[in-house]
Amino acid sequence: MADLTVDLAGVPLRNPLLLASGIWGETGASMASAYAAGAGGVVTKSIGTAPRTGYANPTVEPLGPVGFLNAMGLPNPGIEEYPAEIDVARAGGAPVIGSIFAATPREFAALARRMAETGVVALELNLSCPHARGFGSEIGRDPRRVERIVRSVVGAVDLPVLAKITPNTADPAGLARAAERGGAHAISAINTVRALAIDVDLARPILAHGLGGLSGPAIKPVGLACVWQIYEAVQIPIVGIGGIGSAEDALEYLLAGARAVQIGTALSGPGVALFGTIARELSARLDALGIDRWEAAVGRAHRPAPGPSAARSPFPGPSRMAEPRGTP
Ligand SMILES: Cc1cc2nc3c(=O)[nH]c(=O)nc-3n(C[C@H](O)[C@H](O)[C@H](O)COP(=O)(O)O)c2cc1C
Repeated sequence: MADLTVDLAGVPLRNPLLLASGIWGETGASMASAYAAGAGGVVTKSIGTAPRTGYANPTVEPLGPVGFLNAMGLPNPGIEEYPAEIDVARAGGAPVIGSIFAATPREFAALARRMAETGVVALELNLSCPHARGFGSEIGRDPRRVERIVRSVVGAVDLPVLAKITPNTADPAGLARAAERGGAHAISAINTVRALAIDVDLARPILAHGLGGLSGPAIKPVGLACVWQIYEAVQIPIVGIGGIGSAEDALEYLLAGARAVQIGTALSGPGVALFGTIARELSARLDALGIDRWEAAVGRAHRPAPGPSAARSPFPGPSRMAEPRGTP
């Protein structure tokens, strides 16, 4: 069986499949259940300095096969309350990555210190939530602010720091470079893609907040493109996120440059059992591909093609169309 173990910026994981922030990770018990079901680790929901109630309902809208639209508004109990949940997840054996959000480098650093005391194995900085005023992508789309925030957190704690980057920008790789300059140990990409759905009968947006963030199958190609570009821009490891729901999806991210992946929206149907299913399928698929270690194939799709490759396009090119049919 292929070896799925991963070293993520110094953190050993039994496999590369992590629970994404904000989905299923509300309580310690739910994080522990993801780990028991086969996840390699879990990311907490994003925690702030003080409790926040978030936006009014509706905050989440399923969009059929496209995925989910959400604008939760970063509801969370605050850093003084949340460590009890981390204790429960850790008691279940899960390596826990603590996700935090704040508005300034100083607030990020103070929050990071407090989160580091809870026994998390790493921090993930939410620089990318697309719908929270004063937080997330509102600050995270400015590379100078990203660099300053990351530097301030890296200077404050003795843990690996993952910077979670927004896709809602012209240059996600530039944001990743800024995070790397600030000392980030890894990049997480991507958070949700800014999106909207309208209720035609009511003639207003479906979500109470109006704009939201899209997750699920529709954003996989966007996440892959970001990971691809970031892989070519930085030296630090990348955690791929966005629309992953199968071993094949995870492999695409691996080949694009991801050392680990996070899974969120896809859990909405099968629940956390999906982690075990994907881990098993991943081993079998790597075996079939002749790859004995997941880590050995990180970024493999960036290799130059071995030579003139046979076209796999379903559309015949001009020269093939010109070939007379039936001639040897
Ligand atoms: C309901 C919901 C809540 C989320 N909350 C957070 C959050 O608190 N912090 C964060 O960094 N990302 C949050 N995300 C983004 C996810 O972690 C992930 O980046 C995104 O959903 C793409 O992955 P997916 O397609 O597998 O869901 C949330 C996503 C959803 C759907």
